[in-house]
Amino acid sequence: MKFYIDTADIEEIREANARGLVDGVTTNPSLVAKTGKSNKDVIAEICKEVSGLVSAEVISTDLDGMVKEGVELAKIADNVVVKIPMCDQGLVAVRRLASDGIKTNVTLIFSPLQALLVAKAGATLCSPFVGRLDDIANDGMGLINQITQIYSTYNYDTEVLVASVRHPMHVLDSALMGADIVTCPYKVMQQMIDHPLTEKGIQKFLADAAQIPNG
Ligand code: G3P
Repeated sequence: MKFYIDTADIEEIREANARGLVDGVTTNPSLVAKTGKSNKDVIAEICKEVSGLVSAEVISTDLDGMVKEGVELAKIADNVVVKIPMCDQGLVAVRRLASDGIKTNVTLIFSPLQALLVAKAGATLCSPFVGRLDDIANDGMGLINQITQIYSTYNYDTEVLVASVRHPMHVLDSALMGADIVTCPYKVMQQMIDHPLTEKGIQKFLADAAQIPNG
């Protein structure tokens, strides 16, 4: 399973990259806004740091605007993937960008049928938001189960990118369900590292090592 980091913070990306946890990066307008920099500058800086795919989201919601913005974003670097919001005109934008050889990631997916349409349109990535479904007492991971089943039945090329990840169980369930990619906030990556028995084991080994004669 590929690990993406869900952030626009270059320092977090460097930290995760040093640990081999950055197969790609996802950003969105909310994350870019936190940096205080322009979308173009943020994406350019990230693309210099990582070799994997970097999702950069369009702001327009009309077809021409989405395509124009997508073409401009794709010029920033070869590894840019244009993030398009799920909507009727968004599917048309995906097809147009794909015909120009531009990769796309359709975001804000909340149903298996939306995901099916995304694959039919020829998107590179499909981003279901599990945490936001859980927030309204829906089954976020149930959605991933349905999408992975549909995509594998029909051998779609579109990859499932689990987004809106809030805790390590989302990552574990994604791996068990065979999702292609999970995009995590840096905090969730950190939470996966620690285990109380690991820490206890390190302390015991250190204590025992102190008893070994001459080190
Ligand atoms: O990748 C999408 C993600 O950033 C949304 O996460 O926590 O705002 O639902 P969240």
